[in-house]
Order: sequence, then structure tokens, then C-alpha cells
Amino acid sequence: MNAAPTPFHRPRRLRRTPALRALVAETRVHPRELVLPVFLKEGLDEPAPIGSMPGVVQHSRDSLRREAARAAEAGIGGIMLFGVPLERDAVGSGATAPDGVLNVAVEDVVAEVGDALVVMTDVCLDEFTDHGHCGLLAADGSVDNDATLGRYATMAVQHAERGADVVGLSGMMDGQVAAVREALDEAGFTSTAVLAYAAKYASAFYGPFREAVESTLEGDRRAYQMNPGNRREAALEVGLDIAEGADIVMVKPAGPYLDVLADVAATSEVPVAAYQVSGEYAMLEAAAAIGYIDRERAIAESLVAIRRAGADTTLTYWAVEAATNPAIQELL
Ligand code: PBG
Repeated sequence: MNAAPTPFHRPRRLRRTPALRALVAETRVHPRELVLPVFLKEGLDEPAPIGSMPGVVQHSRDSLRREAARAAEAGIGGIMLFGVPLERDAVGSGATAPDGVLNVAVEDVVAEVGDALVVMTDVCLDEFTDHGHCGLLAADGSVDNDATLGRYATMAVQHAERGADVVGLSGMMDGQVAAVREALDEAGFTSTAVLAYAAKYASAFYGPFREAVESTLEGDRRAYQMNPGNRREAALEVGLDIAEGADIVMVKPAGPYLDVLADVAATSEVPVAAYQVSGEYAMLEAAAAIGYIDRERAIAESLVAIRRAGADTTLTYWAVEAATNPAIQELL
């Protein structure tokens, strides 16, 4: 009987103690790279819970200001603003009403936090249209790409006027980055940055977001958002957006698209963001609530994985908690 050979190579040496593991960790997540998405609902006096996103609320103006202050206090990097209007119509008039809910959100948050957080906005029409699509509809019911661009440009300029640092273009219309960049520059906002939701997939993981913004969608978004099976096409979208002037490109959703994120991070000339979306949040919270997974460990692991795949910046509904809950912090 031969004794089992003694291994010469022992990777376990560096896994022996917490100190050794921390010393050689390849990936760390810093609070400064996290962005908190938030919802301001028009006309609310008190924050209202969102059923499919336990722990996330639709904010009133007061509670949004408090949340922004809390986010700044926690030391995260930024905040992404979404507006939930009371009235919707075919062209999403509320998106460009001077006192529209998203414009109000920008004013309030900028007044509250100043430069302590990067203030970002979601430039899209789906929260504001009665049909729930991200753009204007043509006579045949399809989303009219070119007619929509001017609406995004007006929105973006209004957000810039109110002090937004970054406008996030999430509508997946062709040419939207160029249209918005040109409008911002013409209006004198040459320093307002454009975050392009470059590789944005037509995903079931946006489901809880629809409840958050009370949007009822007629049909689906597959005629403008990307097919989940397409990996190479992400390079096309990212290349176009960078050529059109995008300052940051984003992959969305994050967790189920880490291969796409890794591709983009390997080739992009500009910083890369990832959006851990509502369904990723809801899934993990639901499984944790019934005891199927360890909540804090799973949250930390999901954020580390997104960072490992190459995200410089991550949008996540856990941003503030990840920066403040010691059980998560020690794993980041
Ligand atoms: C468009 C937008 C959506 C999300 C962010 N921006 C919805 C969509 O494209 O269908 C989804 C975010 C999430 O699910 O957390 N306004």
C-alpha cells in the first residue's frame, strides 16, 4: 500500500485565517462605488411600501430628502432618481412639466446633499406614459424611435438645469446618447455627464420595478431592449454609445449578465456600471425571508460577484445597507 502523496502545492495556506484571506483578496467593494436607486411619488405625505420590494418605499418629498441625507452619511457614491407621477398620458407630459415629480426630486436632493452624492436621473418615458412604453407610439402602435429622442433631450436638459450631475439614458432608443449630448451642449451643460444604459436586456427581472413606479405595460419591450441570449450585440451597443459620447456605459440587469459585464469591462474605454435590478433584489429578499439563504452573505456575495466581473460602479437597492450593516461590510 502506497501512502497518498503529500501535495506540494497548497492553495489552502492563504485561506487559513481571516487576516490571510483579506490580505490576498482580489475583489473589494467600496461604498463609494455604490449608487442607490430611489422613487419619489407625486403627492405622497408619507412613504409607501412597495410590496414586491420589501424594505424599499415610494418616497414623499420629506422622506426622500431624509433618505438622500442618510445615503450621504453612509458614504455611498450616488443616488439615482425615479419619479412616479399621479397622471399619465400618451406622450408622457409629466416627464417634462417644469414642476413634474422627477424635476422636483432633482431640486430637493441637490438642495439636500449638494456635492456629497453624485445625483443621477433616469431619463425615460415609461413612468410617465399611460401605455407604459419608454417612448412615443407611432400610429401602428410601435415605439417611434426618432420622435422619442426630442422628449429625452428635453428631460435631460431640465434635469441638468436643476443640478443633476449625471443623466441616465435607459430607453434603448437608437441615437439617444448623441441626441441628449447635443441638447445638453447646446444648452450650455457641457459638464453634465451621460450614463448610457448601453446593454439593457428585455428582462423579467424588472417586474417589481413596474410596481414601484405603478406602470402597466401594454405588450413588452422586446422591440427595443436586447434579447437576453445576445452577448456579441452588447459590444455593438456599447461601441455606439461611446462613439455618441457616453461618459459611462451600463449593463443591466447585473447578476444574470456577468458574462456580458466582463466582456464590456474588458473592452470599454469609459467606466462601466452595472444595475442590480428590482427582481434580483426581490428574489434574494424573498428567499432570505423564508430562511432558504443567509441574507447578508448572499447580498455581499452578489455585490462582490458584480465587482469581480468588472463593474466600476454598481446600482443596487442595498447600497446604504451594504455601506452600513457590519454583517455585510465585513464580507466586502
Ligand atoms: C426605465 C427603467 C426600468 C428600470 C430602470 N429604468 C424599467 C424598464 O426598462 O422596464 C428597471 C430597474 C429595476 O428593475 O430595478 N425607466
